[in-house]
Amino acid sequence: MTATPRRVAILISGGGSNMEALVRSMGPGHPAKPVLVFSNDPDAGGLAKARKMGVPTFAIDHRPFGKDREAFEQAVDKVLRQARADLICLAGFMRILTPGFIAGWDGQMLNIHPSLLPLYKGLHTHERALQAGDAEHGCTVHEVTAALDDGPILGQARLAVRPEDTAESLAARVLPLEHQLYPAVLKRYAAGDKTPVLIG
Ligand code: GRF
Repeated sequence: MTATPRRVAILISGGGSNMEALVRSMGPGHPAKPVLVFSNDPDAGGLAKARKMGVPTFAIDHRPFGKDREAFEQAVDKVLRQARADLICLAGFMRILTPGFIAGWDGQMLNIHPSLLPLYKGLHTHERALQAGDAEHGCTVHEVTAALDDGPILGQARLAVRPEDTAESLAARVLPLEHQLYPAVLKRYAAGDKTPVLIG
């Protein structure tokens, strides 16, 4: 008797290449299935990609809410609950979530961040790794907690920084690692296994 698959909602803000990798990875027998792709930007390119793959989508533009983060998040939460999501994957989602929202999804929300956390929380991670002269760089999947980019690490993928690397070339080489790492972590996490996935 196979367990009922976890119902995954994927939150995006842009092209959704990580969303696409996650959706494609959830085939038959997978412990999770995609039930919704949500964006804070109705024009996000990833929404069309999700629809092409047959995944329901929903978008709520965060801009009309102005500084009222809570009101925006209440609207988002309602959509997620209506989809009966029980696992959230933030994938290129560029809105910072309040502790109140995060508390409602404690232990049920993952994020991918383009650095080897705890290095370089926040933005411009590739530039910062280059400026620091790091020999290695990569990406991390972690559980989302109230502190930004700070939750328990569920997986990391790393690569060697090359002397000729620029922030753009580094980002371009890290992205395929993200597409490898996030699906591998989701498969384990959805099956109740929090053993970190380590690549490279
Ligand atoms: C990428 O730079 C990735 O590192 C970060 O969000 C950006 C866009 O990702 N997670 P995606 O193509 O929208 O998944």
